[in-house]
Amino acid sequence: MSVLLCFIFLFFSSASAACNQCVFAKAAFFASSKPLSGGACGYGPLALYFNGGHIAAALPFIYKKGEGCGACFQMRCKKVGVCSTTGTTIVVTDIHTDKSNTTDFVLSSRAFRGMALPGKDTQLEQIGIADVEYKRVPCNYKGQNLSIRVEEFSKPPNYLAIKILYQGGQTTILGAEVASVDKPSNWISMSRNYGAVWDTSKAPTGKLMFRFITNSGFDAQYFYTNEVLPANWKAGVIYSSKVQIKNIALDGCTPCKPWK
Ligand SMILES: *[C@@H]1O[C@H](CO)[C@@H](O)[C@H](O)[C@H]1NC(C)=O
Ligand SMILES: *[C@@H]1O[C@H](CO)[C@@H](O)[C@H](O)[C@H]1NC(C)=O
Repeated sequence: MSVLLCFIFLFFSSASAACNQCVFAKAAFFASSKPLSGGACGYGPLALYFNGGHIAAALPFIYKKGEGCGACFQMRCKKVGVCSTTGTTIVVTDIHTDKSNTTDFVLSSRAFRGMALPGKDTQLEQIGIADVEYKRVPCNYKGQNLSIRVEEFSKPPNYLAIKILYQGGQTTILGAEVASVDKPSNWISMSRNYGAVWDTSKAPTGKLMFRFITNSGFDAQYFYTNEVLPANWKAGVIYSSKVQIKNIALDGCTPCKPWK
């Protein structure tokens, strides 16, 4: 219980720092030479297949030391006659550090072009830096369930490092715990190693299931999986959980300009 409370406090402190569920007007930068696939979240080349490759690096206040990994934003640019009114949805896969504070996001070229009206993508690319509006939206990985990738540096049976993939909904994973399916009350807490990667050196043996502490807005709640990893889990393999996060965390944003 104290662990949970601690996470709740953690959430409250980060909630006051940023309200990214509202619409902002900032600039996004397109850089074709910048491969986001190596990103800070640790998704590696897999990121190129997320969301049709509509991915982005975000400023630290959105990346939030890895908590922002996998968050989805609807983003549209504002140039009349070039940009569509709906824009595109991007997934955060990397951190973007911009000392001059001129851009909030660096988009993959595919995502950047995705904000253009049909046939105007080349024109938009030529603009390079575009004024954009964005808001947090639920992630919707069509047909994909929340999945666990066992990382290569895991050492069976006790050192388990996992990466969380295809995190649906609009919430933040604040904590991760693992238990043997045979001892379902014995939850072992995992630590965020970096980005979307969590680990423990006390992994139980047998078939494994997980529970994640997610924020619901003003509170924290558990999201449970059934068995995800077989007893002989293997590094480099992606295991689907057969469940998906659908929650949308309530936001503490003060009323903001509606997205028309
Ligand atoms: C950029 O923004 C951060 C956070 O708002 C601020 O602390 C910093 O001073 C800003 N830097 C510049 C160069 O404006
Ligand atoms: C996701 O989970 C649902 C519910 O268990 C299942 O019906 C579906 O086949 C799963 N989808 C994939 C892609 O694994």
